[in-house]
Amino acid sequence: MKIGICNDHAGFAYKIKLVPWLQKKGYEVIDFGTDSEASVDYPDFAHPLADAVVSGKVDCGIAMCGTGNGMAITLNHHKGVRAGLAWTSEIARLVKAHNKANILVMPARFVSYSMVQHMTSMWLQTSFEGGRHQRRIEKIEQF
Ligand code: RB5
Repeated sequence: MKIGICNDHAGFAYKIKLVPWLQKKGYEVIDFGTDSEASVDYPDFAHPLADAVVSGKVDCGIAMCGTGNGMAITLNHHKGVRAGLAWTSEIARLVKAHNKANILVMPARFVSYSMVQHMTSMWLQTSFEGGRHQRRIEKIEQF
C-alpha cells in the first residue's frame, strides 16, 4: 500500500519519525513535505497530497499541522477527499469505519508521538463499515 504524507513546520518532527516507522511495517511512503521546521503555509503541502489521493497516485494519506484544522480544511476542498481529524485512537477508528476517511489528519501540537502511532495503526487497520454510512458519505458531495 502506498501512503502519501504531508505536514507543515508543526508536524515535521513527528513526520520524520513516522515515515521510517511506516516503512518498517512494509508501507511505501511518498513524502510531500515540508522538510524542515522553517515556517511554511500548510496549503502548499496539503494540495499536492490531495491531488495524489484523488488521482490514485497514493492509496491514502496522512497529514499533520499544529491543530490539524488547516490541513483538514484545505484537503477537504478537493472532490473525492475525505480528510478526517483525529486526536484519540477511537476517533481514528471511527473516521475510517464511519466516514471512510482517505486522509487521516492529526494535530501535532496537541497529541504525543506515541498517540500519533496508535492513531495511525488504528486507522490503517480499520475497514469502512458501509451500510448506513455508505448512504451518508454519498450525500457529502450532493450539493
Ligand atoms: C502553524 O503555526 C499553525 O497555524 C498550523 O500548524 C496549523 O495549526 C494551522 O491550522
